[in-house]
Amino acid sequence: MGRKFVVGGNWKMNGTKKQVDEILDFLKKGPLNADTEVIVGVPAVYLDYVKCNAPPGVEVAAQNCYKAEKGAFTGEISALMLKDINVGWVILGHSERRQIFGETDDLIAEKVAFALDSGLKVIACIGETLQEREAGKTEEVVFRQIQAIANKIKDWTNVVIAYEPVWAIGTGKTATPEQAQEVHKALRGYICEKISPSVAESVRIQYGGSVTGANCKDLGAKPDIDGFLVGGASLKPEFVQIVNARQ
Ligand code: G3P
Repeated sequence: MGRKFVVGGNWKMNGTKKQVDEILDFLKKGPLNADTEVIVGVPAVYLDYVKCNAPPGVEVAAQNCYKAEKGAFTGEISALMLKDINVGWVILGHSERRQIFGETDDLIAEKVAFALDSGLKVIACIGETLQEREAGKTEEVVFRQIQAIANKIKDWTNVVIAYEPVWAIGTGKTATPEQAQEVHKALRGYICEKISPSVAESVRIQYGGSVTGANCKDLGAKPDIDGFLVGGASLKPEFVQIVNARQ
């Protein structure tokens, strides 16, 4: 496989200065598996502080950014501002951005392209709803979401895909390792056919959706699961266990 395991922690809209320090403390304490890439997705107001205080080896991501360098986009964050404070990553297309804030496949794809062109690395999120899964449309949906991005970018070097079935996010109903592996394998097959065999072989696909210290080892043992994007559990010391799932 040769793909470096990568674990993201998406703090979402959670945290206080005290809680941020508590998270930084358990990340510093670790110990974090040096063979795992670790990225924490931080609310915008704490990005500079976390970037200045994160332990070595822990990368920092914004949870969103816009597709313009600067201008009249009140409330938005520029990819260049993230580069300005040495934040190297951004999470884009999260299902909450899609479901709550109405972000479309095309807008997300444009954001991914702009972020990459600005020198950021991207965790690009995809995933089906329970209704779509129950209608047998899982592959149709995730292939459509990936294709929208493929239509806008050529170089996948700095992209990590996060497959997050919406029905598993925040619900405690984690996909089984078999369910997750099935979609990851299908995604890799689609990428191989529609993009290229080399991208299919090298691109890392995280699983996200109720990952915990208890289920991470079984999920992480699957050949096409290259890591996780973790929500709730990333705010707790058990996140260290999840980072070390492959140890
Ligand atoms: O981006 C990760 C997130 O959507 C998963 O959330 O709380 O189910 O781990 P959670």
